[in-house]
Amino acid sequence: MSKEAGGFSPRCNKMSYKNIETLTWSGDRGGGLCLIDQTLLPLELREIDCPDVETVWEAIKTLRVRGAPAIGIAAAYGICVGLQSLPSDANHEMFKRRLDEVVDYLASSRPTAVNLFWALNRLKQTAHSLLETKSVPEIAEAVFNEAKKIHEEDRAICRNIGKYGQELFNDGDTLLTHCNAGGLATADYGTALAVFFAATEAGKKITVYADETRPLLQGARLTAWELKERGIDTVLICDSMAAMVMKQGKINGVVVGADRIAANGDTANKIGTYGVAVLAKHHNVPFYVAAPVSTFDLTLKDGSGIPIEERKPEEITNGFGKRTAPEEVKVYNPAFDVTPAELLTGIITEFGIITPVNRSNIEKMLSFT
Ligand code: MRU
Repeated sequence: MSKEAGGFSPRCNKMSYKNIETLTWSGDRGGGLCLIDQTLLPLELREIDCPDVETVWEAIKTLRVRGAPAIGIAAAYGICVGLQSLPSDANHEMFKRRLDEVVDYLASSRPTAVNLFWALNRLKQTAHSLLETKSVPEIAEAVFNEAKKIHEEDRAICRNIGKYGQELFNDGDTLLTHCNAGGLATADYGTALAVFFAATEAGKKITVYADETRPLLQGARLTAWELKERGIDTVLICDSMAAMVMKQGKINGVVVGADRIAANGDTANKIGTYGVAVLAKHHNVPFYVAAPVSTFDLTLKDGSGIPIEERKPEEITNGFGKRTAPEEVKVYNPAFDVTPAELLTGIITEFGIITPVNRSNIEKMLSFT
């Protein structure tokens, strides 16, 4: 049951980078979800409507909405969209059946970013805690309010990550990032990019090298666009150039996002992150992960248990419409890799910085939640 996200939303005519909203819910529980179609950027800034849960699933699967926190928010609103198809006289049994169906369906969209499952579980728990005592419309309302809360909380979380992270860097520094952990990947402002935005707002003049991030070019299409729109000195490089720029002594620090962090600090992020971390270690460059605590998965003792999404071969052989490999060549296309904790200098969270990265420091920081 896959469907393309629907209609072009008129709101986007008014959008520019200054007032973009990665995701928007208009109206009350009966309202609707719009999101920026990130597959069109940077050529077109267009918002699309998601009138049913199938279009939300498709938008997550095809990366119209992407980045771990944004996927979590989309999934939370996806539940609200999915519940709208219940008849007005639905009883508790029908509500519970539909909720389970929608949650399981959205959970099948992408496997790696734990924020997706975290958000789905949070809404499911909200519903379950009320099943015995509240009416179906009351439970549906509480679920909707919880989705909005996840969305709103993420804005504050990103600002705090920026605030703590920017203190690590100085005026004149040149930093490097991989993939896109910006405003587009969150409710607003980002995680890794929040550090750069906050440093700039604190009056520090920084330069950011953005890895283009093969095969889907989130670095070139999204990160370079966001940094430039915010007036940050930006240099786009191919992924394979990171070693050279570090050897040349151009880079003072690396900051990346995360899709799932195991209890010992092993971190899954966009494919290529592990290589950047190895390079940073070799060249003595500090390497930071910036992520909200919802990205930690304490059920996994280390990164070996993190499920890694494999995507279609065509993303490599036919990137952006042109065939660039022989027909029928075998392809391996993991979308994420796992960086071992020992390569991390620190993890920047909304509660502060975890350093050195180890199980006990992670537990201490997460006890603030
Ligand atoms: O496949 P994507 O574009 O969803 O991958 C995104 C990343 O790897 C991000 O770095 C991560 O989700 C953190 S976003 C704040």
